[in-house]
Order: sequence, then structure tokens, then C-alpha cells
Amino acid sequence: MPELKGVILVVEDDPMQRELIAENLRQEGYQVFEAASTQEALNLIAQRPVEIAVVDYKLGNESGLELIRELRRRNPLITPIMVTAFASIETAVEAIKQGAYDYVIKPVDFQKFLLTLERARERFRLQREVADLRSRLEEKFSFKNFIFVSKAMEQVAGLMSRAARSEATVLITGETGTGKDLIARLIHFSSERSRGPFLAVNLPSIPETLVESELFGAEKGAYTDARERKIGKFEAADGGTLFLDEIGDLNPAVQVKLLRFLQDREFYRLGSTRALKAEVRVIAATNRNLEKLVAEEKFRADLYYRLNVIRIDLPPLRERKEDIPLLVDHFIREYSRREKKNIKGISAEALDLLLKHDFPGNVRELENAIERAIIFAEGEVITRADLPVFLEIRSEKELAESTSDFSRPLTDKVRELEIREIRRALEKSGGVKSRAARLLGITERMLSYKMKIYGL
Ligand SMILES: Nc1ncnc2c1ncn2[C@@H]1O[C@H](COP(=O)(O)OP(=O)(O)O)[C@@H](O)[C@H]1O
Ligand SMILES: [Mg+2]
Repeated sequence: MPELKGVILVVEDDPMQRELIAENLRQEGYQVFEAASTQEALNLIAQRPVEIAVVDYKLGNESGLELIRELRRRNPLITPIMVTAFASIETAVEAIKQGAYDYVIKPVDFQKFLLTLERARERFRLQREVADLRSRLEEKFSFKNFIFVSKAMEQVAGLMSRAARSEATVLITGETGTGKDLIARLIHFSSERSRGPFLAVNLPSIPETLVESELFGAEKGAYTDARERKIGKFEAADGGTLFLDEIGDLNPAVQVKLLRFLQDREFYRLGSTRALKAEVRVIAATNRNLEKLVAEEKFRADLYYRLNVIRIDLPPLRERKEDIPLLVDHFIREYSRREKKNIKGISAEALDLLLKHDFPGNVRELENAIERAIIFAEGEVITRADLPVFLEIRSEKELAESTSDFSRPLTDKVRELEIREIRRALEKSGGVKSRAARLLGITERMLSYKMKIYGL
């Protein structure tokens, strides 16, 4: 018996014809279900994972066309093929219009029919893949993955949903790692534009001379490297959202062009005098102080006002530490799933350590710490030993406090002291291990060993 190829539903009111088609398909290795009427067909697709529906044009008094429309309405992934005795263009066109993928003419030429089925299966597979990816994307960027308890972030969430319901330009500010990227995506994927493209441009990563063509496109020959016409991000994001990350770094010449776009929704490809239009919602972000840049005349005031329509300021994580436990849970779930580990939580002591840390890298730093801990953890909870060592000592003052505290075991204190000394030696030796080892009066092997156990 050949391998199973796919699941096909044959809808045909004439039992002889139906049997003939079904039997032939079974012999080819398809799993086949049969239906004699519209109702039977609809019942079957509710119960079976039908991929392709082969539908006769006339089903007694019922219309195969109407069934195709209904199948598509109930499950847009099902790929229908129409079987018809009337070899007319009109019939074919009508079938395609109702959502049939293709049609075959009676009497059925089986060799041709099998080829049609192969193509239909390929289409079904691709469609399912696209649908899968989309739902994973929508799931990933749904508001329920935006984690907070703090008042400050509750306000942010309120602004986000207002932004998602509007078309206005959004300006997001906050230190690195506070969630600017995430918020831009959440807004897009819960806005009316969610089916359109979301494009992100990280401005500092583009060479200064290429920023304009990257954003607005360029005609062939507009500059030395332009061998082909280049489509810019504004054009490519038509119908969707363009996320301009680190907008504070935009050079003055391009600032003018962005302003023009925000005012008139028009732009020019480099080297062209033809104005183009694009339906693009702009979300900008920066970790710099735009007001200050405006005062220093490094950023155009008029552009600043155009961008600053809906303003979302993200507070650093150290100012909303009450969010930390929830974020920790969220990342534990995410990364233990990814790493296929069964980690259920974090020890009180380890959580305490996290709550004491200032997180200059904000949520991203916390996320990385948890990701690493999940990889290292041996048991079912993350312990202090699984967390990166850098969390432990922040300042001389803290070291002094911790060493004078008799409630803590000596081994912990020794460990903290060692870590501090190793770091100092490494700094002083510019990271050269052999020199650091000499400074510390230990062998290089011993230094490597200690660095490894302390995760330095
Ligand atoms: N409130 C939040 N809930 C869940 N994950 C968050 C939250 N804020 C930030 N993150 C995560 O932290 C990481 C850094 O966020 P990101 O948006 O890239 O920061 P930024 O763009 O401000 O540097 C990302 O993986 C993001 O998903
Ligand atoms: Mg970012």
C-alpha cells in the first residue's frame, strides 16, 4: 500500500460515479470520504480533517457552486475542485469565483485529475503553513504577552490600546530594553492594519549615505551603487506600519523628508521627481532625549511635534520593580518550554537577588538572566547559583554591607570577595588572563577555573 497522501472528500450524488472516483483515489493512496449531498458534506468537514473537496457541479437539486462557497466559508483552508459535465468557460469562471481552486471535466481523465490533485495539495500545504505562521505571530504579539502590574505600565497599556485603535503617529521613548520594540509590534498587530506589513528600520545600523534610499527608495542610477530601482521601506510598508527605531539618530536632510511624508503622505524616490503616496502608519522610538536634541537644534522641532502625537514613555525597570516577579514567571514559562525543561519557579532567595538588582539593561537584561538560568538549572526551581554572578555585587558599599552581615554564610562572602577581586584584576589587565592571574597571585588555570564556576 502506498503512503497516505492526503484527505479528500468526494461530493457526488450519483453513487456509481462517486464510487468510481473514490475507489480510484484510494488506490492512489488518498484517504477518501464520500458525501451524496450538501448536508452530508458539511457534516463530514466538521468531523474530518479534509484537505481537498472534489465537488460535482450538480448535486441533485442542490448546487455544487453553493456548496463550494459554504465549504470555503466554514474552513478557508479546504481546497475545492469542481467536477463538471459542461465544458464551458462560464461554468469554470463561476466555479473559480466561488472559491474553487480548479475544475475537471467529465468524463474524468484520471491522469490529469491526479496532477490537479497534487497541485491542490501543495496549495493546501502552503496555505496551512501561512495560516500557522500568522496565528503564531498574532499569538506572540497579543496584549496578553505584555506583562505588568505596576501603575506606570498600566498607563502605558492604556495608551497602547488607544494607539491600536487610531491611525495617529506614535512616539515611544525609553531606555534600551524597556520594551519599545515589543510595544510597536503589539500596536500594529492589534490595529486595523494587522494584516498589512510590519517593517522595522533600525536607523543607526544603516550607513548615513544610504538612509534616504533605504527609507524612500531610489531610481536606477540615482547614486553610484544603484544598479536597479530600489523600493524603499515606506513603499514596502504600504497598508501597514513602519517602525523607525532610534529616530533621534536621523540626519537633518532625511528629517525634512520624513516631515514631508508625515504632513502630506507623499515622498520621492531618490533621483525621481514623481511624488509617490503610501498608506503607512509611522511608529518612532528612541532612547535619547528628543526634547534636548530639539533644544540643541539637532532634531527639527516641527518633526518632533509631528511624531509626538501619541506619546508613550516607558519607565526603566528599576522604577517598577513590582513588575519583576511577573516578568520572571513569564520568561520561566517561555524558556522552559523552549528548552524542554520542567522548571516551575524560582527560589525566594534568587528572586530577592533579582529584586535588588538595578537592571541597566532593563527587561532585556532580566530576560537574558532567566534564559541563562533555565539552561543551567538542574532542579525544578531556579536558584541563586543559576543566576549570572554579575547580579550579586553592585558596589563597594554593598560588598561591605554583605560581608559585615553575620546572618550570611562565610562561603557566600568569600565567593563575593573572589568575584570582585577577579573582576578588578581582569579590568586592570585589560582582560588578558595571564596578566590578571599574575596580579592575583594564582595560576592561569586556577583563574580560568574560577571564572568558569562563577560564570564570569
Ligand atoms: N512588559 C513586557 N512584557 C513581556 N516582555 C517584555 C516586556 N517588556 C519588554 N519585554 C521583552 O524584553 C525584551 C526587550 O524588549 P524590546 O522591546 O526589544 O526593548 P527596546 O526596544 O526598548 O530595547 C524583548 O524580548 C521583549 O519581548
Ligand atoms: Mg529596540
